[in-house]
Amino acid sequence: MGKVLEKNSVSANEKENKKKVFIKTFGCQMNVNDSERIKGILKNLGYEFTNDWKEADLILLNTCTVREKPDRKVLAHIGEYKKVKEFNPNAKIGVCGCLAQRMGEELNRRAGGVIDIMFSSYNIHHLPQLLEKAEKGEKAIEILPEPPKDEWEMFEYPTIRENPYWAYITIMKGCDKDCTYCIVPQTRGKERSRPIRSILQEIKDLVKDGVKEIHLLGQNVTAWGKDFENPIPFSYLLYKIAEIDGVERIRFTTGYPTDLTDDVIKAMGEIPQIADALHLPFQSGSNRILKLMHRYYTKEEYLEKVYKLKEVKPNIAMSADVIVGFPGETEEDFLETLDVLEKVRFEQLFSFKYSPRPGTPAAEYPDQVPDDVKTERMHRLLEVQKRIMNEEAKKYEGRIVYPLFERYSDGKLIGRSSENKWVEVKTDRKDLLGKIVPVKVNRASVYVLYGDIVES
Ligand code: SAH
Ligand code: F3S
Repeated sequence: MGKVLEKNSVSANEKENKKKVFIKTFGCQMNVNDSERIKGILKNLGYEFTNDWKEADLILLNTCTVREKPDRKVLAHIGEYKKVKEFNPNAKIGVCGCLAQRMGEELNRRAGGVIDIMFSSYNIHHLPQLLEKAEKGEKAIEILPEPPKDEWEMFEYPTIRENPYWAYITIMKGCDKDCTYCIVPQTRGKERSRPIRSILQEIKDLVKDGVKEIHLLGQNVTAWGKDFENPIPFSYLLYKIAEIDGVERIRFTTGYPTDLTDDVIKAMGEIPQIADALHLPFQSGSNRILKLMHRYYTKEEYLEKVYKLKEVKPNIAMSADVIVGFPGETEEDFLETLDVLEKVRFEQLFSFKYSPRPGTPAAEYPDQVPDDVKTERMHRLLEVQKRIMNEEAKKYEGRIVYPLFERYSDGKLIGRSSENKWVEVKTDRKDLLGKIVPVKVNRASVYVLYGDIVES
């Protein structure tokens, strides 16, 4: 780390006249973690952070392109932020992340040429050089077709995280699956697992700084270790992390059903720190649609995984992603999806209307579902899900849950329970911040559990 820090250390002169950066992050947790890394790099360069884009010297958009809606959002935001150049002609606009990767220079043309800096998620650590170039008034655009050899160097920079008690940790990047609807393999590249030593070291450092909960991240996190010369199972990594003194809770996102093998399920049962929650996208309940999506499991196999999980972790709160209106989806196919909702009883569900992505096979499928049909199915799905979530929430009343308190505001401690539920407690016990504490739930709404601390 020393080498990198030295290379970009801040001179006294720069310190006096700090530049301000405004960062806007779209999309998934991987982007959130990438932005945390970008913040670390910029802080090293002497930047100060601002929440007001109007006073920024650098506006950076970390973008998403997984569906059409985020594309439109990003373009609208660039349209707004470019006005910064009216108040501050030296201000720079930077764009990174998946939309930058997908569109490259075309995005700059669409945005009227206002973008000064562009880079991939592969080369975040090249930002200092790109900024230098932009400062000279040159366009600094470096969209790489694939990850460079020095990609993992970006982990040598410090990361600036919002919360001191839990942390995202990227353990792999990219995805080797070929879901026919998905743009991610194009924008994030092939699966690359981060070396185990680097992961364990980051976690050890975080724990020393007071972090209690770690959240492992990857587009396909359960495939970690498969691409090493000598492959290592993901379950091994889980055991090694659990051995680190001070790791009190472990989560991981996103798992892929077929990669959630028996050894991982066993580890989830055996390792007490692994949270009682799992996000496991199923996308569709119809085997015909799953095949068209190139998902490598059937509805029955997915349910089997869930039942096995519930055996080793009876209180597990399941969540998932689901797509409505994939090309060719019939009413019968859709009813199969609703059936999965009824059988699993997800406590949280992220549902998306199918959105054709340029260059993906499904975008070319002939039998696209009309938007009004997608909307109508989405309404019905949400109705079913709302009922299930209301019913499931009730089971928490009277139960003891274990939130990690991460915030104190308005006389309340707020934290997430092992089941990934927000828990609120009215109290003046600020000393419990950063601790996992038993709470008896008095009232449960769908998103928040209200209760009192159980005094020992
Ligand atoms: N495994 C990845 C998934 C990335 S995309 C990860 O979490 O990092 C997140 C979700 O967006 C997918 O699970 C899928 O449900 C949805 N999605 C992806 N492409 C889509 C598309 N073209 N239309 C609608 N939803 C899509
Ligand atoms: Fe996308 Fe499928 Fe991978 S949803 S991120 S291609 S597992």
